[in-house]
Order: sequence, then structure tokens, then C-alpha cells
Amino acid sequence: MKFRSAHPALLAASVAALLFSTMAGAAVDETAAEALSKKSNCTKCHSVDKKKDGPSFKVTAAKYKGKADGEAKVFKHITTGPKIKIDDVEEDHQIVKSKDDAEIKNLINYILSR
Ligand code: HEC
Repeated sequence: MKFRSAHPALLAASVAALLFSTMAGAAVDETAAEALSKKSNCTKCHSVDKKKDGPSFKVTAAKYKGKADGEAKVFKHITTGPKIKIDDVEEDHQIVKSKDDAEIKNLINYILSR
């Protein structure tokens, strides 16, 4: 019996999947995350471990710890600008100042790994 060799496209897909899973486990680029957070004014209302107008990143990390949809929820939160309340005044949440998914995900991984 003769086996057909793997289709090149399938092979490419599995290599890509492997690369992606390696990248997902890669360390957070803290410098890039902090720069984007500053540029987007996140630091005005958030700090890593102190409550400001918004919850500390540690509180958010604890909230989503072990939850598969944590990254997706935070992604939505910082790219769609949902209504939030600060001192009973409603406003739109700040939208992250980047259109680059990888850069945004790096910031999310930074937040969720505090
Ligand atoms: C004007 C103040 C303000 C700015 C600027 C701001 N946030 Fe927030 N953020 C808040 C408040 C208030 C909440 C809490 C909202 C709530 O619980 O309804 C919040 C919630 C969050 C949460 C928690 C979401 C959740 O699902 O629990 C994250 C993560 C977050 N902000 C990230 C960011 C990032 C990243 C930036 C910069 C792009 C940013 N915030 C800019 C005020 C701010």
C-alpha cells in the first residue's frame, strides 16, 4: 500500500499553527506594552497594582485568570469603547491607539499576566 505524501498547503498550515502556538507562549514585550498603554492614556485611569478611576491590572488579571475568553473580552473592551461610569458620569471607555492586533494582544497579555 502506498501513502500519499502530505499536501504542501496542509504542511504549511501545520507549520504556521506550530509557530503561532510558540508565539502565544512567548514572553510579553513589557516595554512595548507600557509604551502603548501610555500612548493610549490607559495609565491615566489604570495602574498595575493601584485602583485609580479604573481597576488595577492585577484585579483584571485575577478576574480573568484561567478563563479561556479573558483575552477576547479585554480585546473587545479596549477596541470597541463600551459605556463605563466614572463617579456616576457615563462615558465611552478609551479605545487603544493601535490598529495592529499583535500589538494590542501584547498589551492584553501584559495586563492579564500581572
Ligand atoms: C478615563 C479613564 C479610563 C481610561 C483612559 C482607560 N480606562 Fe480602562 N477602565 C476604566 C473604568 C472606569 C473601568 C471599569 C469599567 C466597568 O467595570 O464598568 C475600566 C475597565 C478596564 C478593564 C477591565 C475590563 C473588564 O472586562 O473587566 C481593562 C482591561 C481596561 N479598562 C483597560 C484599559 C486600557 C488598555 C486602556 C487604554 C487603552 C484603558 N483601560 C483606558 C477607565 C479608563
